[in-house]
Amino acid sequence: MARALRHVEGAELVAVGSRSMERAASFAERFGATRAHGSYEALLDDDEVDLVYVATPHSSHRELAVAALEAGRHVLCEKAFAVNAREAREMAAAARASGRFLMEAMWTWFLPPVVELRRRLASGEIGRVRAVEANFSIAVPGPTGRHHELALAGGALLDLGVYPVALSRFLLGPPVEVRALGELGPTAVDVNLGVVASHPDGAVSIFHTGLEARSSHWCEVVGTEGVVRIEPPFWGTSGFTIDRHDGAPERVEVPHHGLAHEAIHAVERIRGGHLESDVIPLDTSVAIMATLDEIRRQIGVTYPADTP
Ligand SMILES: NC(=O)c1ccc[n+]([C@@H]2O[C@H](COP(=O)([O-])OP(=O)(O)OC[C@H]3O[C@@H](n4cnc5c(N)ncnc54)[C@H](OP(=O)(O)O)[C@@H]3O)[C@@H](O)[C@H]2O)c1
Repeated sequence: MARALRHVEGAELVAVGSRSMERAASFAERFGATRAHGSYEALLDDDEVDLVYVATPHSSHRELAVAALEAGRHVLCEKAFAVNAREAREMAAAARASGRFLMEAMWTWFLPPVVELRRRLASGEIGRVRAVEANFSIAVPGPTGRHHELALAGGALLDLGVYPVALSRFLLGPPVEVRALGELGPTAVDVNLGVVASHPDGAVSIFHTGLEARSSHWCEVVGTEGVVRIEPPFWGTSGFTIDRHDGAPERVEVPHHGLAHEAIHAVERIRGGHLESDVIPLDTSVAIMATLDEIRRQIGVTYPADTP
C-alpha cells in the first residue's frame, strides 16, 4: 500500500505506526513516511493523519478500526474485515456513530480487469453464468506463525478463502446456501478446505483453500455460451480470456496499480462526503463475515473472539 499510494492523487504517506519505534522508523525511512510512531495510540493521535490503513492480524482489526474512528480518522481496513460478523457490525456501528468513513480493503473488487470482467459477464458475453471455480492455497508450514495462531484468527479461510468468497459474491450475487468440508491443523485453525455455495439463478461457486500446498491460483467462470479464465493470481489478476463456444478466444488485459484502486475509491468517497463505499458497503462486509462464520461453523473453527 505504501508503494501504491504513488498512484493515488492527493494521497500522501504521512505517518506509520508500529508497536516498536525501531520498526516504525525503519518503515518510514524505507517508504518515505514523514513521521514514525512507536505505538498505534500515537499514530491515532496524529492530527495530520486523515485516513488510517489497518493492516495488522485479523484479531486486532475491530479494536484498531474502532479506536481510529473514535479518534476522528477515516479507516481502510484489511480483509478479512474482522474475526466474525459480530465484530464487523460493531465496526460499522462505530463508523456511523463517529461520522467517519470505513471500508473493507477488498482490493480485488476495485481492480480494473475484474471490474471489466464483471461488466462483460453482466452484458451476457458467456450467456447465463452457471459457476465460478477458484483455488487459493499456499504452503505455510506451521505450527507457529500468524497463519496458524488461533488467537490471531489465523487459518486459510480468513486469510485466503475470503477472496473466492468475495469474488463469487461480486460476480454471482450473495450466496443462498453454503456447504463446507475441511480439516483443522494441530493449532485448531483450518488448513485445508473445500466450499460449495449456491447463488441467485441457480449458479454455484466452488473453491479450495489451504495452508499446506501451493495451488495454481486460477479462477474459471463457466457460462452457457462460453468460459472465462481469469489469469493467476485471480485476486490480483491483470487479465482474462473469454473463450466463447462460437468464436476464437479473446484475451483481455487491463493494466492496473494493485492496491491503489481501492485507495483511489476511498479518497473519492471521502472527498464526496460519503461515510461508506457504494461498491463494498459496510452491510456487505458484515454479510461476507457472516458467510465466513457459517463456513467456520461447519468445519469447526472457533476463535477466542467468538465467545467474548
Ligand atoms: N491485500 C493484500 O494483498 C494482503 C496481503 C497479505 C495480507 N493481507 C491482510 O493484511 C493483514 C495483515 O497481514 P500480514 O500478513 O501483513 O500480517 P503480519 O505481517 O503478521 O502483521 C502485520 C503487522 O501487524 C502488526 N501486529 C500487530 N499486532 C500483532 C500481533 N499480535 N502479532 C503479529 N503482528 C502484529 C505487526 O507490526 P508491528 O509489530 O510493527 O506493530 C506486523 O508487522 C491481514 O488482515 C491480512 O489478511 C492483505
